[in-house]
Amino acid sequence: MFPHAPVQVIEHESHLTQRQGPAKKELHMMIQPTNQYSQTNRAKTVFDDIYQALTPHAYLSQMRRLGYQIAEQARPFCIAAAELIARSAPTWPVQMLDVGCSYGVGSAFIRFGCSFEELVSFFESRAPRGYYECTGATRAWLNGTAPAIDMRVVGLDASENAIRFALDAGLLDAGISQNFECDDPNDEERAWLSGCNLLVCTGAIGYVGKSTFRRILQHMGHSAPSQFGPLAILTALRMFDVSEVAQAFEEAGYVFERLANVRLPQRAFADDKERRDIIHQVRARGLNTAGLEESGVLYADVYMAGSKEVQPLLREAMEGVRREAPIFSRQVEVANAGS
Ligand SMILES: C[S@@+](CC[C@H](N)C(=O)[O-])C[C@H]1O[C@@H](n2cnc3c(N)ncnc32)[C@H](O)[C@@H]1O
Repeated sequence: MFPHAPVQVIEHESHLTQRQGPAKKELHMMIQPTNQYSQTNRAKTVFDDIYQALTPHAYLSQMRRLGYQIAEQARPFCIAAAELIARSAPTWPVQMLDVGCSYGVGSAFIRFGCSFEELVSFFESRAPRGYYECTGATRAWLNGTAPAIDMRVVGLDASENAIRFALDAGLLDAGISQNFECDDPNDEERAWLSGCNLLVCTGAIGYVGKSTFRRILQHMGHSAPSQFGPLAILTALRMFDVSEVAQAFEEAGYVFERLANVRLPQRAFADDKERRDIIHQVRARGLNTAGLEESGVLYADVYMAGSKEVQPLLREAMEGVRREAPIFSRQVEVANAGS
């Protein structure tokens, strides 16, 4: 399947011999970021507990309650980028790095072709609560159908529990539970990063910022033998100024740009205070919130990055998705929203 795939394995603790499942971690220890977005993030509801549970049940049920949809909305853009890599650099597999991957959500959507509804229904009705029963049932469920796309997936998340689950459930080929806002990757992590040729990041900017991308981009793609170069698809809530993230990409030799005329719905506001504070933040950036955040939903922009040579192809592919996917034209074509 991956004839040229590097044989690299990150040793992660195997808990398969323990009967009780992995130990529950102290909560609130690491997710709240200290980065260039610390101040802006105060407007957002804190979800640390559900990011760090042993299984995805709580995360998915809370996200369903809020109509969370950004990863699924971003999926066709990520698939188009993966197909571009597969077509243009066929001698190396698509190896996707999902930044802020949570419980392997990007892999479930992109590689395994699940919808959010399918994922949530599975965890609500069929996935047992016990850790090993849950990872086993998830693995069996995913293996029931062939993956939608032939790719490897490397996940990065600050939540050790989320990464452990994603690995044990077969959603990830490698998992990195690190906070690259503060720490450098170790040798094994660098090896995985260097084999990645597609970076996706949905719903995580704010938690991660320029420091994480700088640390990743120093290594990404270095051992993927292609003239084509890595591509990146990111979403960022409109409350966040991404200019320093853009700078991190540009310093690493990428062209970084926003996809014009697309705003993707991310989720509903958790409460009135969040709604008020975030609308204030978005307006403070000079953006028009009418028909967008004022409708009760947080909206995100889509960003793409690639080398100067491939950027026109990437832009064309993203424009194609925007034109063709009816879901986007229905939900996000907002002619007069601020840019
Ligand atoms: C809103 S969730 C997004 C999950 C997934 N990408 C999606 O769209 O469904 C944000 C994720 O970022 C993770 N996170 C927080 N700080 C991080 C950091 N410094 N590095 C990597 N991931 C981080 C959280 O643990 C959480 O899983």
